[in-house]
Amino acid sequence: MTNTDIKIVEMGARDGLQSERLPVSLKTKITLIDQLAGCGLTHIEAGSFVRPDRVPQMADTPAVFEGITRKAGVIYSALTPNLKGFEQAVSAGADEVAIFASASEGFSRKNLNCDIATSLIRFAEVTRAAQQAGIPVRGYVSCIAGCPYDGDVSHASVIDVTEKLFDMGCVEVSLGDTIGTGTPGRIRHLLKALLQSIPPHKIAMHMHDTYGQAIANIYVSLEEGIRTFDASVGGIGGCPYAKGATGNVATEDLVYLLDREGFNHGIALLKLSETGLWINKALRRQTTSRAGLAMLNRQNAQ
Ligand code: HMG
Ligand code: MG
Repeated sequence: MTNTDIKIVEMGARDGLQSERLPVSLKTKITLIDQLAGCGLTHIEAGSFVRPDRVPQMADTPAVFEGITRKAGVIYSALTPNLKGFEQAVSAGADEVAIFASASEGFSRKNLNCDIATSLIRFAEVTRAAQQAGIPVRGYVSCIAGCPYDGDVSHASVIDVTEKLFDMGCVEVSLGDTIGTGTPGRIRHLLKALLQSIPPHKIAMHMHDTYGQAIANIYVSLEEGIRTFDASVGGIGGCPYAKGATGNVATEDLVYLLDREGFNHGIALLKLSETGLWINKALRRQTTSRAGLAMLNRQNAQ
C-alpha cells in the first residue's frame, strides 16, 4: 500500500439501510451489495446481527449473506454486538466482524442497552472468540464529536475507548461522528491528540454528513495521514439511536475528492453514481450525493 492508496469501507447496505422505516426487500439488499462489489468496492459491510426487534431492517442479514454472489477479493463484514451476534455472523460466513462502542455513556445506553464498561466486557468476549476462529475484528467508536444525549464528548474518552478496542485485538478502529457535528478544526485537534499513541494506518473515519461537514472532515483527516474512510453510496442512512442524523458521506463524493486529489481507490465513479441513484429511487428518496448527480448529468448531456 502506498501513501496514496485509500481503503473505502462501504456502509450502504448496513448503516445505509438500518434506519429505513419501510421494509426494504431482500432482493434490493442483495442487488445493492452485488452492484457495489461490481463498482470495485472491496470492503462491504453487509448487515448486522443485532436484536431484530431493536433494528428490524437488519433482521434478514443471514439471508442477505446467503443470497449475495461473493466476489473474489471482497471482504463482506457485519456488526456483532455480543457473542450471540458473533456466532450468527460466523454461521452466515462473514469475512470480518465489527464491534461498536461509544465514547459517550448516553449513546452507549441507548444503542447497546448498557454502559461503556459493560459493552467492553461483551466486546472482549467477541474478540477472543474471533481470534480463535481466525476472523478479524474492526472496532467502532461512536460520538467522537458529540453525543445526541450527553452533548460534548472529551478527547480523553474517545482515546480511552479506542485504545481499549485495540488492546482487545481490533485490527482497525473507525471513529464515528455519529451525528455529523464535527468540523475540520475540531476533527484535526482530536486526531492530533489520538495519533500521539496510535498510528494513522490503524484508524478509519466514519463521518456522517448531517451538517454538510463530512468531506471537509475527511480532507483534514487525509492531511493527518488517515487512509481508510467509511462511506455510504448515495449518502443513504443514519442510526436508529441518533435521531435526525443522516447518512455517511456519500461514497460518490468521497471518490470524486480522492480522484481530484490524486489518491488511488479502484472504484468506477460513474457506475457507482448509477447505483447511488438506483438505491435512492428504490427507497423513494433523493440522492444527497452532489458528485453522483453531477456525474450523471454530465453523462446525460453527452
Ligand atoms: P440486550 O437486550 O441488552 O441483550 O441487547 P440481552 O443479552 O439482555 O438479551 C435480551 C434478548 O435479546 C434475549 O432474547 C437475547 O437472546 C436477545 P430473549 O431471551 O429475551 O428472547 N439478543 C439477541 N438477539 C439477536 N441478536 C443478538 C442478540 N443479543 C441478545 N445479537 C443489544 C443488547 C446490543 C443486542 C441490543 O441492544 C441491540 O440489538 N441494539 C441495537 C444496536 C444497533 O444495531 N445499533 C445500530 C448500529 S450502531 C451505529 O449505527 C453506529 C455506527 O454506524 C458508528 C457511528 O455512526 O458512530 C456503527
Ligand atoms: Mg454510522
